[in-house]
Amino acid sequence: MGKSSTYTSKIPGPDGRFRYDAEETAIWSELYRRQMEKLGDFACLSYLAGQEKLGFSPNSVPQVSEIDQRLNALTGAGVKPVAAIIPQAEFSGLLSERRFPVATFIRRREHIDYIEEPDIFHEVFGHCPMLTDPAFCVFMERFGGLAQEVPKKHVLRLYRLWWFTVEFGLIREDGALKAFGAGIMSSPSEVDHAKCGTADVLPFDLMTIFRTAYRIDILQPVYFVINSFDELAASLDENIPELLDRARDMGDLPPRFDIAA
Ligand SMILES: [Fe+2]
Repeated sequence: MGKSSTYTSKIPGPDGRFRYDAEETAIWSELYRRQMEKLGDFACLSYLAGQEKLGFSPNSVPQVSEIDQRLNALTGAGVKPVAAIIPQAEFSGLLSERRFPVATFIRRREHIDYIEEPDIFHEVFGHCPMLTDPAFCVFMERFGGLAQEVPKKHVLRLYRLWWFTVEFGLIREDGALKAFGAGIMSSPSEVDHAKCGTADVLPFDLMTIFRTAYRIDILQPVYFVINSFDELAASLDENIPELLDRARDMGDLPPRFDIAA
């Protein structure tokens, strides 16, 4: 949990299961139904297939242990329950083992539209379906390894790639723009924003991404579009430390947001 968080992490029972009361389940249901309606045909095929493979339902908050088992069988990926935001090195280490850290608490009603810290709706509804895609998992694992290997001065810049893909990425499918980033999938306002076409949409390009700063507290002013998850995974064949060096030397592109805000 962050220092200012008003949430406490959930402790599993002796059976490894997390308990969600009626109000928590109602929040999950409401978020799930509303988000599915908003997403419509905007979710990418891998995401939709992943939801089905994981057996998500609006009726109950999924159990992390069950998702973990299913992912293991499907792609060798997994999830690990964590209190909330964890240190970057620990986060990267888990990714490099194909394990995705998930916070297990769920937001309260007063935060139903927006919560800054990731809760289980963001982690599970937003992220987990993509972990059923083999190429996406290759990207995640290799990204985690790289984040552990690059010099410390480059780690934040490298995480821009995570931000603009795993969190807010778009993909082109049969000529149409679809979403796969968890920050879009799990946020009602971000879906509306991404669909309405007011943000800039740029082709996926590592150097541009490494030179693009972002803010976590605003609707994203720019999205990047990949053509396939194989392309995303293969992008890490590039000499990433060298690209990061070059990006730092060239400096950031002009931001599309107010820095002073
Ligand atoms: Fe996330």
